[in-house]
Amino acid sequence: MTVMDIGCGMGFFSLGMARLVGSDGKVLSLDIQPQMLSVLVRRAKRAGLFQRIETKLIEPDGLGVDEPVDFALAFWMVHEVPDQAVFFQEVADVLHPGSRMFVSEPKPHVTEKDLEETTRIAEEAGFKVLDRPPVRLGLAVVLEKSNGRPLRAALGNGFALF
Ligand SMILES: C[S@@+](CC[C@H](N)C(=O)[O-])C[C@H]1O[C@@H](n2cnc3c(N)ncnc32)[C@H](O)[C@@H]1O
Repeated sequence: MTVMDIGCGMGFFSLGMARLVGSDGKVLSLDIQPQMLSVLVRRAKRAGLFQRIETKLIEPDGLGVDEPVDFALAFWMVHEVPDQAVFFQEVADVLHPGSRMFVSEPKPHVTEKDLEETTRIAEEAGFKVLDRPPVRLGLAVVLEKSNGRPLRAALGNGFALF
């Protein structure tokens, strides 16, 4: 699998995801802060997982990912994104239909009402809600990309439709 950890920070989840995808898998670890990515690279090398992790310094308003992805994690970062509609559309564009996205937000900084609005925006981008699992100190929602939605990114780049 190719998975992405959006707003990966120092890579707490990227390292675990790298173990889960195995030696044939890949983790795209994206963040807007180069210092975070430097720490992640150091930690990944120390853990022997560097070969499975591709770090990417991105802009706050663009993922810059142009390859198909099987799973996306956005842990405690969506509230920092300037335009959530653009954000979820971009994630939807690279996820395979039926693939999942896990979103968690910190409580009480982000309220249940805030997450409801975030979820509504995600649904407009082509996701449906699968679950709202309990998460310590936070709120969470598991989303699934609906079937049959064309990859917008693919249209531009000439990839096959998913
Ligand atoms: C609270 S930290 C969470 C880090 C990590 N996900 C974790 O749970 O350990 C939020 C991270 O999201 C990053 N971030 C904020 N806005 C972002 C954006 N628009 N795109 C990508 N990353 C962003 C920040 O630089 C920071 O590293």
